[in-house]
Amino acid sequence: MSTFKALVVNKSDNEVEAEIKEIGLSDLPEGDLLIKVAYSSVNFKDALACIKDGNIVQNYPIIPGIDLAGTVVTSESGQFQPGDKIIVTGFGLGVSHFGGFSKYARVPAEWALKLPDGLTMREAMILGTAGLTAALSLFELQQNGIQPEDGPILVTGTSGGVGSIAAGIAAKLGYRVTASTGKPDMHEILLEAGVQQFLSREELLTDAKRALSKQQWAGAIDCVGGRTLSSILPSMRYGGVVAASGLTGGTELAMTVYPFIIRGVRLIGIDSVMVSKEKRAKIWELLASVYKPPMLERLSEEISLEQISERVGLMLKGRSRGRTVVKL
Ligand SMILES: NC(=O)c1ccc[n+]([C@@H]2O[C@H](COP(=O)([O-])OP(=O)(O)OC[C@H]3O[C@@H](n4cnc5c(N)ncnc54)[C@H](OP(=O)(O)O)[C@@H]3O)[C@@H](O)[C@H]2O)c1
Repeated sequence: MSTFKALVVNKSDNEVEAEIKEIGLSDLPEGDLLIKVAYSSVNFKDALACIKDGNIVQNYPIIPGIDLAGTVVTSESGQFQPGDKIIVTGFGLGVSHFGGFSKYARVPAEWALKLPDGLTMREAMILGTAGLTAALSLFELQQNGIQPEDGPILVTGTSGGVGSIAAGIAAKLGYRVTASTGKPDMHEILLEAGVQQFLSREELLTDAKRALSKQQWAGAIDCVGGRTLSSILPSMRYGGVVAASGLTGGTELAMTVYPFIIRGVRLIGIDSVMVSKEKRAKIWELLASVYKPPMLERLSEEISLEQISERVGLMLKGRSRGRTVVKL
């Protein structure tokens, strides 16, 4: 191939513009692995990378795409051979280093994992960073001793990527799942995924200003943050665990310390970007087996490189559903 297509985001005169360009291999950054990208996916962070005040991209121009799955073309690392199917998520991908919205990518071998048995490259990208984050959240609940018999689990933002996958995994593992969503049209698919009960965003915020409220949840997975997270913590059962990963609802956390010092509630931060290679390999193995959510295809829509800009706009308006996988 002499040239190939990529979505390039550039900044000029304080404006940020995304356009499909023909680029060559010499335009790609350095890295041990040249990869023919098969699929990528659209995450909230990619949407932020395409706008002026997203505060995600360090240097322009950038090719966004924090996830990719593809086949190794050339390797300067003993860990990988040409023909290996690999996945890369997080680290600097799509943020400080050209990412997955490109037919070819070059990355450090340290960022790559072999595609686990039990997942196709397309399935791995339906999951992507959202799936890894959802799985890390469930893993932390389990590691901290929250079992299905301890009581119901609350999952928020369940029309989105992290929330819908987390709800699906939790139900598959036997937890009683209550899903909070602002989009009632998602109830049907979430019921199919095993969700048992729903709360609207507003219902969840009713107790937002109380220091402690009725003990409801044994565990919670929150990707919304802000007032949502500060409403959940006072309603955790004694010894409950909350895994917090997101900020679509805000970054402030206004609450008292009472849930922590009266009920022994634990708040655990989830990071999918810099999590160690060993831990991410373990979590991907779980995603390919016992965690693999049943409704991956129904949760996802496939788009082309040309459709990313429109999809990003919907995401920023809070109007996207489930996961968007990009076929390169
Ligand atoms: N910590 C990490 O490593 C990590 C990794 C991945 C993502 N994240 C973060 O997790 C969050 C979710 O990511 P995602 O990929 O699942 O995004 P997404 O697909 O866009 O979903 C976000 C969901 O948040 C809910 N939401 C609640 N209040 C909202 C509001 N005021 N405005 C917009 N949405 C609101 C919506 O669900 P409902 O309508 O159902 O309420 C929406 O679908 C983002 O903040 C993202 O940056 C963090």
